[in-house]
Amino acid sequence: MATTAAEPTRRDFLFIATGAVGAVGIASAVWPFVSQMAPDAATVAAGAPVDVDLTPVAEGQILKLFWRGKLIFVRHRSAQEIKDAQSVDVASLRDPEADAKRVKAGKDQWLVVYGNCTHLGCVPLGNEGAYKGWFCPCHGSVFDTSGRIRQGPAPTNLPLPPYEFVSDTKIRIG
Ligand code: FES
Repeated sequence: MATTAAEPTRRDFLFIATGAVGAVGIASAVWPFVSQMAPDAATVAAGAPVDVDLTPVAEGQILKLFWRGKLIFVRHRSAQEIKDAQSVDVASLRDPEADAKRVKAGKDQWLVVYGNCTHLGCVPLGNEGAYKGWFCPCHGSVFDTSGRIRQGPAPTNLPLPPYEFVSDTKIRIG
């Protein structure tokens, strides 16, 4: 009897312990990015511009950060992703916008967009969907490697936040 009663308790404990390890793992994976950005809490709260060091973002990676409470993706695009984004017939797009208008001149490898789906605000998954840009799991919107809407109910492209390059490897958002 005592053994039977103890078993679920032990299983529960193991489940919780496993969950705790997972949470720690995620936190330590995110920390290098957070420490790279290093805006202090007061700066973030005030919505002041933030500088983002792009050095740790490898090709193919998408950095996620918050600015003024809004999610932003900073995507380091590969040569193929850039080519895919540039070779689209702009007139065929739902929200026609050339890739060149969505990146900074000479910095084609960096795409910086707001990270909420323009349908109802879910967070799309990177490197997913038919165009390997983003896929929104909520209702199936598909964005390309320029963050432009290609399929599904979202009416417009992922918008661009205000930002500029302050050095070769650093952007200032805001
Ligand atoms: S919120 Fe993304 S498709 Fe609906």
